[in-house]
Amino acid sequence: MSKTATIEIDGKRYEFPIIKGSENEEAIDIKKLRDLTGIITLDPGYKNSGSCTSKITFLDGELGILRYRGYSIEDLAEKADFLEVSFLLIFGELPTAEQLEQFEVDIRKYTLVNEEMKSIIDGFPRTAHPMGVLAALTSALTAFNPKSVNVDNDKEMYQAVCKTMGKFLVIATWTYRKSMGYPLNYYDNTKGYVENFMNLMFKLPTEPYKASPIVIDALDKLFILHADHEQNCSTSTVRMVGSSHAGLFASISAGVSALWGPLHGGANQAVLEMLEEIHKNGGDTDAYMAKAKDKEDPFRLMGFGHRVYKSFDPRAQIIKKAANEVLETLGVDDPILAIAKKLEAAALEDEYFKSRNLYPNVDFYSGIIYRALGIPTDMFTVMFAIGRLPGWIAQWKEMRENKEPIGRPRQIYTGAALRDFNKPE
Ligand code: ACO
Repeated sequence: MSKTATIEIDGKRYEFPIIKGSENEEAIDIKKLRDLTGIITLDPGYKNSGSCTSKITFLDGELGILRYRGYSIEDLAEKADFLEVSFLLIFGELPTAEQLEQFEVDIRKYTLVNEEMKSIIDGFPRTAHPMGVLAALTSALTAFNPKSVNVDNDKEMYQAVCKTMGKFLVIATWTYRKSMGYPLNYYDNTKGYVENFMNLMFKLPTEPYKASPIVIDALDKLFILHADHEQNCSTSTVRMVGSSHAGLFASISAGVSALWGPLHGGANQAVLEMLEEIHKNGGDTDAYMAKAKDKEDPFRLMGFGHRVYKSFDPRAQIIKKAANEVLETLGVDDPILAIAKKLEAAALEDEYFKSRNLYPNVDFYSGIIYRALGIPTDMFTVMFAIGRLPGWIAQWKEMRENKEPIGRPRQIYTGAALRDFNKPE
């Protein structure tokens, strides 16, 4: 017999089905709650609420498990490349060698961005934060590609995926070129996706440029680790915006804005700024630990804690190892890494952090690698966005294919009761 949950309100009992996921997670299906009882549930921040069923990513925060379409993140980071993982996330299965090659070829068809986009970039001050520019440019793509994709047409959907993957990478790097006052680069269709990222970012017209294979490998891995994370803030935003049948670019632009916040993707920039500040102030990690624990002080140890991981963040473990390797291979001796390690060791031993299950998250070490690779600090969150793009696309596509209803939460009103209109004296 299938499990049910009973809710008793004013002596009346109501039964609700309990649904089970493929990894045995359970949820009380309350779709009929309001119809039957007239009341709703209240769960700000959605700590206890599922917004959808999904076949894309599984994570177990207690056990520190993360899988895309059933494959462990450890396996994917070691054995697959970013476009392979993107294909897997978006279309559900690993591509064959032929499909993967075709995917790359098809993405290349869309790597030119309309030249008129450049006049939009020109309108931004050079000091604008790259994430703000990226959100605006992604949204602007809608103006140049006004036809909304028909999600029921596989060919159209595939084209839209390739177009988004191609153009987003280019405009993401343009935000940096703009901030530096450099000429904007074009995608080179003879090179791979991640190598192109490096070229688009760093190639100058005045000299030859060849990205280091170590750097390309490290970035590829970082993009894989960021590629999806089920219903996080930016992904839920993408699904929510898309649920009104807004287009893919508009939905992704909203995701970029959501990701920017320092409690989400913006944490990677905040971590590095925090580590730099600690370094500048003499490296006293104890003082910052004390600040983080002081309830009168709003300071938080950036890169620590996670809404769902309550034992460890498996991505952080892979990144920590990669950070060590990259710095060693590139021969970089970064005092910031030493501070990060000291802080991590202190937090792992500290009662405050232990009792609240606060462990280093994916962002704690990613900034250190980005820095070693020559990526400027305010581009860190853009790096996250490039990595997260296939996840956003996959989740948007799934939401539309599942014909999910428009996202429209309810509320409990706590404002004034009806009052007479009198102008204040
Ligand atoms: N430093 C110090 N204390 C913290 C931290 C931190 N980084 N994170 C949480 N706490 C404390 C809170 O003060 C709270 O303490 P209390 O119970 O005594 O009031 C308790 O731990 C629980 O914190 P919440 O904010 O309720 O936890 P929540 O699950 O809502 O937040 C979040 C998770 C936003 C990630 C939080 O841990 C945080 O702000 N971390 C720093 C920012 C960061 O690194 N964000 C990146 C997240 S990963 C990602 O987006 C890819």
